[in-house]
Amino acid sequence: MTDKRFHLAWFMNFTPDEWRAPFGQGGYPWDGQFYVEMAQTLERACFDFLMIEDKLMVPETFGSDRKYSLANGMMAPKHDPAPLAVAMGMATSKIGVVATMSTLAYPPFMLARLSSTIDSLTKGRFGWNVVTSAEDLAAQNFGMDKLPPREQRYEMADEYIDVVNKLFDSWDADAVVLDRENGVYADSSKVRTIDHEGKYYKVRGPLNTVPSPQHRPVYVQAGASPRGRDFAAQHADAIVSVANGVEGMKAFRDDIRARASALGRDPDEIKVFFCITPTLGETEEDAQAKYVRETTSDHFCNDVLASISAITEIDFSQYDLDQPLPEKLETNGESGTLDKFQQWGSGKTLRELAAAQGGGLVSSLELIGTPASVADKMGEAMAEVGGDGFLITTPVLRVGRRYLVEIADGLVPELQRRGLVRTEYTHQLLRDNLTDF
Ligand SMILES: Cc1cc2nc3c(=O)[nH]c(=O)nc-3n(C[C@H](O)[C@H](O)[C@H](O)COP(=O)(O)O)c2cc1C
Repeated sequence: MTDKRFHLAWFMNFTPDEWRAPFGQGGYPWDGQFYVEMAQTLERACFDFLMIEDKLMVPETFGSDRKYSLANGMMAPKHDPAPLAVAMGMATSKIGVVATMSTLAYPPFMLARLSSTIDSLTKGRFGWNVVTSAEDLAAQNFGMDKLPPREQRYEMADEYIDVVNKLFDSWDADAVVLDRENGVYADSSKVRTIDHEGKYYKVRGPLNTVPSPQHRPVYVQAGASPRGRDFAAQHADAIVSVANGVEGMKAFRDDIRARASALGRDPDEIKVFFCITPTLGETEEDAQAKYVRETTSDHFCNDVLASISAITEIDFSQYDLDQPLPEKLETNGESGTLDKFQQWGSGKTLRELAAAQGGGLVSSLELIGTPASVADKMGEAMAEVGGDGFLITTPVLRVGRRYLVEIADGLVPELQRRGLVRTEYTHQLLRDNLTDF
């Protein structure tokens, strides 16, 4: 019998929860407890991992001011994902935790050391979402006036990954001998410098952490441009994407697999996850009504536009909500997300674009219905695409306990009954769970 299972992961960030909504958590999640409980809930549902988004600035593109972002708790405040990953990882035992860290911000030695430490603390369940940053506002927090162009960011990131890989390899797996009799903790002949001197980085090494359970963290990536896709196909264990419908999903996955093969990698080593934002109800009508209610409010529309403004550095407040965009827009930032959002040529108004597919930003498919009907649709879509998993989230990444429970205790059991997702973890390491099927 062929294994028709696919993987599940969750996309979130360390920002205020759904604080305005009637069933929110309260808007002050900074002690991390709400998110720790979220990790436990998703572990109950056997998710492969949860992934913590990150940006390194307070957005101020929407309305040319940071007022909207701060007044609405929209992408700011945003706390650091690495300590949260530790807290989540240490309060769970099976689920993977993936933190976003930018190659623009961390010196490679610091990133390798931090990742290795977290991988040991979580007993081999850590992943790194490799991003190059996409905003001038972020670059300005790191001594630059402007973001380097995309080509150069990826060229730097290629060398960066090379450096961190060398650092992880600077200790042999059996370097720690713990020989009490002879008084040897680590065998110095098995630990060496890397002496890297490249175009952008100069790092001596060795790393000063012991080899972690996974040797290196799982690499997650979200490249969307041709250059970004090559980067992802070359380095990533998991790729996350927002695609346009089943056809777009299939085209993206086929393209990644072709690029991986061309680069000499086995495409089956790479798992592609597609973002979705299911809306679940007791009945089909109930779910439809909820979807309309949630996606047509002014708050929703503005939050979506503020998000897309922040990540593209295009001020969407300048356009009429009830007209189509006047021209095809371009960005040096998140180009894939922009293209998906603007649906150029569709004739849709900006308000319709914001609502599309449950928050045009992050959903690859429209999934509205009962847990049973959404599970069927997910199964059918995955069968057509060929793999590998879904990354569940909410339109502007705001989450409350009720939605978590709808997914973990409503949708997932339906998927499990259909044999579409795992019912138990069979491995300790995140990488092994990812490649299990
Ligand atoms: C699901 C998903 C999650 C992403 N998470 C982040 C993130 O946390 N931080 C960030 O700076 N960029 C994030 N990105 C942006 C990507 O890293 C990448 O810059 C973007 O998809 C554009 O691709 P390109 O660089 O090839 O144009 C994410 C993209 C997607 C689709």
